[in-house]
Amino acid sequence: MAIRIDGRELSKKVKERIKAEVEELVKSGKRAPGLAVIQIGEDPASSIYVRNKERACEQCGFVSWKKTLAEDTSQEELLALVEEFNNNPDCDGILCQLPLPEGLDENLVIETIRPDKDVDGFHPINAGKLLLGLPTLEPCTPYGIMEMLHEYGIDVAGKNAVVLGRSNIVGKPIALMLLREHATVTICHSRTKNLEQICREADILVTAMGRADMVDLKYTNPDQIIIDVSINRKDDGKVVGDVLYSEVEPKVQAITPVPGGVGPMTIAMLMQNTLNAYKRHEGISEE
Ligand code: GUN
Repeated sequence: MAIRIDGRELSKKVKERIKAEVEELVKSGKRAPGLAVIQIGEDPASSIYVRNKERACEQCGFVSWKKTLAEDTSQEELLALVEEFNNNPDCDGILCQLPLPEGLDENLVIETIRPDKDVDGFHPINAGKLLLGLPTLEPCTPYGIMEMLHEYGIDVAGKNAVVLGRSNIVGKPIALMLLREHATVTICHSRTKNLEQICREADILVTAMGRADMVDLKYTNPDQIIIDVSINRKDDGKVVGDVLYSEVEPKVQAITPVPGGVGPMTIAMLMQNTLNAYKRHEGISEE
């Protein structure tokens, strides 16, 4: 049986650590960190994510602003709201829940958020800094994956890491973070040839394809560590990752479950990023 990499437990631990730190800061007379979460329209999945982010802010002792704008909000109105938070000295982080309704320009919104408040790590300046190996705000999902690997004592140096998926949010940044810690990284995607063979040779396999139950035993080996990033809802309503868990779990070294794996870590690291941004704004060392 594989070691279960428990994101739910670890995310609690991260949030408790943040909460304790914030309590100390507030006790010493400082303001609490602040996060603004903007949602446009009422997509049910986005509403759940936004609610979870607000709850996490409460758990960590942060100030939070939740702004829900109408589906037909104009680009100008949205950018004006972002600017308002850019200029609010009590606000350390701004997150605009994606995807946006049709007609709104995602890239323009991301580029309007001040890079030092871009707690998603999506701004081109922050993406560029990650590429160059400079300190920055890093995308929350890959940041959470690295936290899991560290916490479970998994050293990636010299290991063969295979990333399934090449998105800007997960595939590309996790590849850079694994590379930074000296893994040998291969990025695979829907056009990759010999996909099963490449995955089978991985010491660490990160799957972010968004394809339910795609990764079966043909993709794995008994010493493999699997990080399953995807959250897929099947026709019967069941939430699963990319990995055919029941078949694969007994035959690998370690694996993250879905749900309860990477998902909760993403929100915990959003809180961590907000605290990191706060410390930079307040001139507090991050150790
Ligand atoms: N929609 C799905 N995931 C994310 C995320 O990490 N950040 C934002 N802003 N929107 C999302």
